Amino acid sequence: MDSHQRSCLYLTRKADDFLQQLLIARGWTMTVVNAPAEAIKSFKKRPYVGILDLSSGFAREQLSAVEHCLLQPDGGWVALASAEQMREPLFRRLVAKYCLDYLVTRVSGDAVADAIDRAHRMVVLNQSPPSLGTDTMVGSSDAMEHLFRNIAKVSSTTAPVFISGESGTGKELTAAAIHQNSGRRDHPFVAINCGAIPHALVQSELYGYERGAFTGAHERRAGKIESAHKGTLFLDEIGDLPMDSQASLLRFLQEGQIERLGSSTPINVDVRVISATHVDIDAAVRAGRFRSDLFHRLCVLRIDEPPLRARGRDIELLANHMLERFRDEGSRRISGFSSGAIEALYNYDWPGNVRELINRVRRAVVMAEGRVITADDLELTQWATPRPITLAEARDVAEQAAIQKALRRHRNRLNDAAQELGISRVTLYRLMGGQRIRDTSSADGDLRPVA
Ligand SMILES: Nc1ncnc2c1ncn2[C@@H]1O[C@H](COP(=O)(O)OP(=O)(O)OP(=O)(O)O)[C@@H](O)[C@H]1O
Ligand SMILES: [Mg+2]
Repeated sequence: MDSHQRSCLYLTRKADDFLQQLLIARGWTMTVVNAPAEAIKSFKKRPYVGILDLSSGFAREQLSAVEHCLLQPDGGWVALASAEQMREPLFRRLVAKYCLDYLVTRVSGDAVADAIDRAHRMVVLNQSPPSLGTDTMVGSSDAMEHLFRNIAKVSSTTAPVFISGESGTGKELTAAAIHQNSGRRDHPFVAINCGAIPHALVQSELYGYERGAFTGAHERRAGKIESAHKGTLFLDEIGDLPMDSQASLLRFLQEGQIERLGSSTPINVDVRVISATHVDIDAAVRAGRFRSDLFHRLCVLRIDEPPLRARGRDIELLANHMLERFRDEGSRRISGFSSGAIEALYNYDWPGNVRELINRVRRAVVMAEGRVITADDLELTQWATPRPITLAEARDVAEQAAIQKALRRHRNRLNDAAQELGISRVTLYRLMGGQRIRDTSSADGDLRPVA
């Protein structure tokens, strides 16, 4: 909800004109409704904030209809109730379960308006990023906002889209989102990984075959292109498409027709083509490994997927999102990331992008031994600057190192080690105790740390 689009639903049996005027003066567009069913119908614009005026006299019998109204997603409600109502379990439950705030009548109009402002802020905060396709694309950085706008733009056309981006940046997710946002969403989204299919099979995978077209073709089979009819065909790793398949694909894009292997009857197919690759396709074109005429056909609209390291705070947002998703896989309840882990998340380069982030967080959830995920758990130790240490801690570390070195050099002979260190045997012994090193030389001639 934009701040300039402040619409407020006022569900009441009897509207308070003064309150209405006050809210209008504060910039709210008011919609007054007297019945819950009316509220659902009259307020299509989402998200929204609402005043639930229980004190205006809603009967108990109406409460289930009211509940139905409060169940509508993307809203935030503030209840007005009498002190008496707030003592009744039914009303209390309704308010506690569905409302962001409540005020006990008679309060000032200003108090109501303030509560509505707060509810509005909460609704805005809770607004999820655009839900695209089956998976939600997480991100609110400038780079991702730009991507979301581009997805929205290209979704409204049927022109071919070419998606470039490093591996794991979300190219497939973007392709699916374009399909979901397009008029083709009720038809198939068919993905084919051109890199994963053996060269010899690319043709039959794409175009299908007739029975007897080749040895082993026992029955007729439709290819991927045909099965995407009226929908979207996603050609993944297009950069790996063999040269001879590039020629036939170009023909299909020009003519909108395919022929199954073993048949010469053309079949009209209506598909929207989206292609993607993580290789540098411009370089492949320059090197002659990818046909430039095909590239120009595929790349009418282009979307560049930003690498994770260019997404600023989205890195943390994504990490938290993935923690939420995999939290239950760990044996202990993890509450979040340590400050060192957060620092490492930002310092690291993420060559494998979002996919790598998912894998690291998922592994960390399982491996973590504490209640927070550390940089070690993420296997990003070197990307976190070590915690600042006190001078006393630094002295302890140096002391321990010097003692252990001297002991090693003198094969644990305390007298010699002490002499070298310039201290008495007694002092050395005491320090060894302090440093948790035990004198076991009398038992087996060896010294071991206690821990
Ligand atoms: N913005 C995002 N929010 C949430 N999950 C994401 C986002 N981007 C990518 N992912 C997830 O990251 C994983 C990798 O995404 P996807 O397979 O779309 O990447 P890709 O660019 O096609 O990778 P590759 O080049 O390796 O094929 C998927 O599990 C996907 O759901
Ligand atoms: Mg992919």
